[in-house]
Parts: sequence; C-alpha cells; structure tokens
Amino acid sequence: MADSWVNSAERTGADLHLELPAEGPRRAALAEALRAAVRDGRLPPGVRLPPYRSLAADLGLARNTVADAYAELVAEGWLTARQGSGTRVAERAAAPAPGRRPKPGPAVPAGPLHALQQGQPDAGSFPRTAWLAATRKALLAAPNDAFGPGHGQGRPELRAALAEYLGRARGVRTDPSRIVVCAGFGHGMRLLYEGRVLRGPLGVEEYGLPYHLDVLHAAKVTTVPLPIDERGARTDDLRELPAVREVLLTPAHQFPTGGPLHPDRRSAAVDWARGAPGRLVLEDDYDGEFRYDRQPVGALQGLDPDRVVYLGSVSKSLSPGLRLGWMVLPEELVEPVLAVKGRRELWVSVPDQLSLAEFITGGGYDRHLRKMRQRYRARRDQLTAVLAEHAPHIGITGVAAGLHAVLRLPPGTERSALKAAAWHGVGLDGLSFFRHPAATAPSADGLVIGYATPPDSAYPAALSALTRILPPPP
Ligand SMILES: Cc1ncc(COP(=O)(O)O)c(C=O)c1O
Repeated sequence: MADSWVNSAERTGADLHLELPAEGPRRAALAEALRAAVRDGRLPPGVRLPPYRSLAADLGLARNTVADAYAELVAEGWLTARQGSGTRVAERAAAPAPGRRPKPGPAVPAGPLHALQQGQPDAGSFPRTAWLAATRKALLAAPNDAFGPGHGQGRPELRAALAEYLGRARGVRTDPSRIVVCAGFGHGMRLLYEGRVLRGPLGVEEYGLPYHLDVLHAAKVTTVPLPIDERGARTDDLRELPAVREVLLTPAHQFPTGGPLHPDRRSAAVDWARGAPGRLVLEDDYDGEFRYDRQPVGALQGLDPDRVVYLGSVSKSLSPGLRLGWMVLPEELVEPVLAVKGRRELWVSVPDQLSLAEFITGGGYDRHLRKMRQRYRARRDQLTAVLAEHAPHIGITGVAAGLHAVLRLPPGTERSALKAAAWHGVGLDGLSFFRHPAATAPSADGLVIGYATPPDSAYPAALSALTRILPPPP
C-alpha cells in the first residue's frame, strides 16, 4: 500500500498529491516521489514546496527526513533553497517529459491584416482599471449569498441598476421585476424561441445578422422578411401578414443598413402589436448608446412596455466576451421565461453581475460610454474624411450612430470589391451577406465597415487599404 498525502494550499501555497511506497527507506522514497513530480510537470519550475514541518506532518515523517530529502534534491539541481523564499523547484529542473509537453492549442486562424469587420467594439479600450475597481468594491460589499448559486432572474442589485439606467439613458419603462438577466441578445432569443416561450412566425428586417437567423431557424421558427426603405423597416406591411405573431426590429439603428426607424413606423409596429392578443415586438437595442449627430432615439419599448420585449447587452458597450445581457419583458412573460431559463443561474456569472451593477451605479458605465462615444465619433469622422478625399463617388450611410457604416457601391461591384478586399488583407463583409434569403426587394451592393475594431494605431492603414479596394468612379 502506498501512503499518500495532499498538501494543503492554505499551508504551502501549492496543492500536490504525492504517493510514497509503504516500505523502504523514507528519505529515498520521498526524494524519488518529488523527482517524479518535477519530471512529469506536476511541480512546475518556480513552485514553492511545503515547509519541512507541514510536509512531515502530512506524511507522518520526521522533520529531518524531509529536510534531508530536500537537501539531496537541491544538491542534484532539482530544487533551489534561498533564505526567505523557501525551497522551490529549480527553473530548469527538468525538461517536460515528452508525454507531458504542453500541447499547442487549436490553431487560431490569423485575422486579416486590416480588421474592418463589424461586430466588435475596440477591444483595446475595455476599461480594465475601472472594471477592476468596480469588481473589487462589489465583491467586498457582496453578501455571502452572492457566492452561492444564483437565481435565474439575475441579481437584484443588477436588475435595480439596469432599471434605473435603461429608464434614464434609453427611455425604457420598467421596474426590476420585469428584467431577466441573460448571456446576451443571442441567449435571450434562444430562451424565447428554443424554449418555445414564443413560436413565431416572426417578422424580421430583410437585412440582419445571419447568426440570429440561424438561431431562429434551428428553433424551427419561420421568419418573414420585411422590406426596408428610407424610413426603416416597413412595419406598416405587418397588417398584410396575418400569420405573423411577432416582429424583431433594430429601431435605434437598423442593423446593418444604419437608419433609425421613422416615428410613423415605430407607431405602426406598436399599433400592429396592439391589434390582436399575443402579438409582440422584439426590440434589439444592440448599440443604442452610440449616437453622434442626431437627437437620441429612445427605446421603442417606452411606447408600450406590455407589447415590447426589449433586449440589450454589453457586447458593444464593453465586450462581447463578458456575455452579460438583459431582457425587459411584459409582465406575463417573466414567469414563462424563468421556467425555461431555470430558477438557478446556469449562464451568467453572479460576481460579474455584481461588477456590472457597481459599474453602472458608481458612474463608471456612463463615463466609459461618454469616452467611447467621442472615440468612435472621431473614427467615424476619419472614415468619412478619407472617403470624401479618395472615393467621393462612394456613398456612405448609417453614420449617425453605432460602430459601423455602409458604403454604397455601384450595382454589380460588390463581389469584385470583396475579392479585392481579400487580396489586400482587408476584413469586411458585403451587404449581401446580411440579406435574408427570402428578401424580395432588389439587392443593393455595399460594404459594411466596422470602424471600432482595429486598434488606434492600425486604423489609418486600414482606411488607406480600404480606399484601394473600392471600385473606380464610373
Ligand atoms: C444586430 C445585433 N444584435 C445584437 C448583438 C448583440 O449580441 P449578443 O448580446 O448576443 O452579443 C449584436 C452584436 O453585437 C448585433 O450585431
């Protein structure tokens, strides 16, 4: 039988399981067990070993036996011993055994040279220090139950902060009881449709994010494209689509074409929903905080909180990696959504919820948004200036808000522009990529430019590469 021990991280700083043969000289057995642990990487270079006393107590050995085994390994070069820093594994103690060599991770495809794809905020601007400060404050103040299993609806601190923020900044009418925290817009849609809280058929704008259509189609929801004109989605057409039960809109900034939904079309959407029981508008407010030139466009939800499901997240404002989002629901949908989501939180980290709550209530979120608004506006201005100088024949739309713009191309030129983009290492998508497969309106040629994505230092080069891929004047 082998004696084994698990040293406690509390006492030693490193957690390790060793096995010693039950028989034979103790010192040699311990030395060999330690060598094996170093060789196979369980004790990596630099790690501090337990003090003699605690290891001796764990293994039922005399202190001197442990001290002698350590000394032997120091002499052999496996360990180092320095006054004040204890005994550690030597930096070059052993090359990892072939079987233990860390395997390279899955290959991450190299990104394009010039990243102008829509969909990402400037990752370099994540407010690391302010977020850390909010996390620190939130965790120090958190009650113990914050570290138990979370409730499916979300932390009350976060729902209260969101109710205040969304009301103030986006004109959303809600109290915390109607908010369900989720892992972003995509997750919200999954809960609603895969969970069969809603069933469609769902009216969608004829241009939108294909990924969201995939989610809906995977849930076997029929989607019906609504044409878009200069006033936004033709919500007045909904009257002629009697099968449609819900409609998904991006009212503040149509994705990706860029216009706000005209007030008449906003009213038409809400009137349509009021026209029969069970009809709903789903509002995707994905970048409503970023507006530059025009008057703020508040949330459609404010027109009728009982007919509109409002969805938002921090994916554009902070980071899509946080997976923090929210749904503001008509009262009668709260229970059905919770029944699908489950009473226990399985998706969204509770400590992150507390950090966001503190970030909002402490003013950090507003400060960050103000800063990013200026930064993105400057980028947008650079983009329009470069185009005005080098490609004045190319129209640009959707620039009053958001983190992306659409370059309108002469008919029939999108495909060759995309080929040129690939050739010059410019990452972007054509407008046709976002078109609903069943859209009936004639397709428009264009390029969707995400101007938030490249770091500041890379942006001028990305813009000049962009000008090289655009079709020449007619
Ligand atoms: C149109 C649209 N809706 C919603 C989102 C947010 O999705 P999520 O919250 O799932 O990251 C995005 C991307 O950020 C988007 O482009």
